[in-house]
Amino acid sequence: MLLQEKVALITGAASGLGRAQAIEYAKEGAKVILNDVNAEGLAETEKLIKDNNGTVLSIVADISKKGAVQNMVNKALEEFGTVDICVNNAAILADFKASLDISEDEWDRIMTVNVKAVYLLTNALLPHMLEKGKGTFINVASIGGTIAGVGDAAYITSKHALVGYTKQLAFNYAKDGIRAVSLCPGLTDTPMVRYAIDQQHPAVVRQIASIPSERIGRSEDVAYFSAYLASDRAQHINGVEMKIDGGQSIG
Ligand SMILES: NC(=O)c1ccc[n+]([C@@H]2O[C@H](COP(=O)([O-])OP(=O)(O)OC[C@H]3O[C@@H](n4cnc5c(N)ncnc54)[C@H](O)[C@@H]3O)[C@@H](O)[C@H]2O)c1
Repeated sequence: MLLQEKVALITGAASGLGRAQAIEYAKEGAKVILNDVNAEGLAETEKLIKDNNGTVLSIVADISKKGAVQNMVNKALEEFGTVDICVNNAAILADFKASLDISEDEWDRIMTVNVKAVYLLTNALLPHMLEKGKGTFINVASIGGTIAGVGDAAYITSKHALVGYTKQLAFNYAKDGIRAVSLCPGLTDTPMVRYAIDQQHPAVVRQIASIPSERIGRSEDVAYFSAYLASDRAQHINGVEMKIDGGQSIG
């Protein structure tokens, strides 16, 4: 198994890609710490993993709050003694709004959850990982971290920032055993975008048309790739953005 004996902390695990990655990591042998603000969804993910004999610790916490993040890391270390992998997955989107349509509050919230929270959790875990001489961050960005047109103005900005943050993280700490990779999905069928697919939102119709196969990504597509990137098999992949988008960003 790819992740045997590893301990992985996954944010945004109540839904979509966070849930799929949590299930896949557990199948590949990892003990998983699940985080989300959505307690009900988190309990469902926990059940799905436990039904499959996985080892789980669920922690309801808002990752944009520094104190909550530190408590979560303390609990995780108390329970499992280590965290080998951190999947910074939780994020929010404000539809497909252009700059003039985004309020200052929306802008601040998106930048806080999608970027600052990643910095908070990374810094809470790094001292432990540096002491061990090993640690892996899978930062779930988006092809919207490399191109425009696949989200709102704040979301696209936040994902470009996350791709940059991930590069700098690898640049600074690779020699100390730290890996950080930006995982960049294209349009994937999760609750974040399902409403827009159902409404045939023009931004989504255009995105689907730009995928050469015209097939929307599935959560499992991303989860399989994520588990590989988190594993020691990917130990020479560091700092870069890895796309999984069915070719959406090539045309
Ligand atoms: N679905 C897509 O098409 C797509 C494409 C590219 C990238 N992504 C990225 O994949 C990741 C997962 O997205 P998804 O599609 O599964 O979305 P989703 O909305 O289904 O799941 C996101 C989860 O994050 C949680 N969350 C939000 N704010 C939080 C906070 N402050 N603290 C803790 N948890 C919080 C939500 O409760 C939710 O369960 C995101 O980073 C998203 O940007 C998604």
